Amino acid sequence: MTSVVILISGRGSNMRSIVDAGLPADIRAVISNRPDAAGLAYARDRGIATEVVDHTAYADRAAFDAALAACIDRHAPALVVLAGFMRILTPGFVEHYRGRMINIHPSLLPAFTGLHTHRRAIEAGCRVAGVTVHFVTGELDGGPIIAQAAVPVLAGDTETTLAARVLVQEHLLYPQVVRWFVDGRLALRDGRAVLRGDAAPDSAALCVPSADV
Ligand code: GAR
Repeated sequence: MTSVVILISGRGSNMRSIVDAGLPADIRAVISNRPDAAGLAYARDRGIATEVVDHTAYADRAAFDAALAACIDRHAPALVVLAGFMRILTPGFVEHYRGRMINIHPSLLPAFTGLHTHRRAIEAGCRVAGVTVHFVTGELDGGPIIAQAAVPVLAGDTETTLAARVLVQEHLLYPQVVRWFVDGRLALRDGRAVLRGDAAPDSAALCVPSADV
């Protein structure tokens, strides 16, 4: 089975959706940069190894990333899943996991990278919002898009109501993308995400990479 390590910083609801999906994957560890991340307890309860690499204990980003990579690599994952992992990563770290590290971001990238995506989408008058799963590159919330799901922005929406609507899609989309990867159907080729075979019908994704690997 394909080995997976999941990185979180907080609540861990996306990590939970992946664990609960019962994928044919060996989830070797859940790692957090925050000792108080709520998601750690859930992983522990499910019998998954947990680790903390506390970023406040390191002098700079490079030192933290080196310690984090050492921790990840002890579990020898084929796939690293960033699930609400709120750290900017150094180029060397990103390069080390090229083609085998994915991230979820709560906007329709390339719009609204960074923080407060839902508030900014409402302020901009967007009529649709959504979520993107992408391979990680050196660009913050950038990198080849694997799949997206869209939701409407409704009159009267607040940051909270829109976030909740998007989160429902996050929990459908992320396990689906991880499944594609562990099934050996998803890869990064020539700077693009490619998916072998059909993304439908069990997919929540509205947009998927071109097929024919
Ligand atoms: C999720 O909405 C995820 O898309 C977002 O953080 C939240 C984590 O929630 N990630 C980013 O903003 C990455 N730039 P969770 O801990 O419950 O999965």
